[in-house]
Amino acid sequence: MGQDRDFRLALGSFATGVTVVTARAPDGRLAGLTANSFASVSLDPPLVLWSLSRHAPSCAVLLEASHFAIHVLAEDQHALSVRFATSGADKYAGLDVAEGLGGAPLLSGAAALFECRRRETYDGGDHLIFLAEVERYTHAERAPLLFHRGRYAALQARVA
Ligand SMILES: Cc1cc2nc3c(=O)[nH]c(=O)nc-3n(C[C@H](O)[C@H](O)[C@H](O)COP(=O)(O)O)c2cc1C
Repeated sequence: MGQDRDFRLALGSFATGVTVVTARAPDGRLAGLTANSFASVSLDPPLVLWSLSRHAPSCAVLLEASHFAIHVLAEDQHALSVRFATSGADKYAGLDVAEGLGGAPLLSGAAALFECRRRETYDGGDHLIFLAEVERYTHAERAPLLFHRGRYAALQARVA
């Protein structure tokens, strides 16, 4: 097995939730992608991070945008995750979106929504690490969509 593939498999052992990150550039171009690299960083100030492949076509818009919206997907939003992980597609076609801070498109039905202002961008090898301050958020009692070993999953039971 190639070392890259094996490293990916090892990383895939870490079960995560799934987010869709959306943004609008000052000239109105939209970007959005599925991301499971999201993590909480700080409570005071409220900071979160996620990382973006330097090769992603959405990179330019995300670097130009002052804000982005991070949607923590609910269990029934699997199709949305697939849509936003598909490069080249018109990801917003037929979607009802509201306008968030900095013009970021807001999608409905998420388990949580964090509207963030980009604070720093760090080198992360073949990825860029975005550190952002949460300026507004909402959340709801919705079961989360999960991702583990390259597959989508749902929460089945709580351990304690
Ligand atoms: C579950 C899942 C998690 C992903 N997480 C990330 C991520 O954290 N960062 C990233 O750059 N791409 C991630 N991707 C891949 C992007 O969603 C995918 O490459 C997308 O097409 C990028 O959008 P773009 O082509 O419009 O730039 C993930 C894909 C899936 C299915």
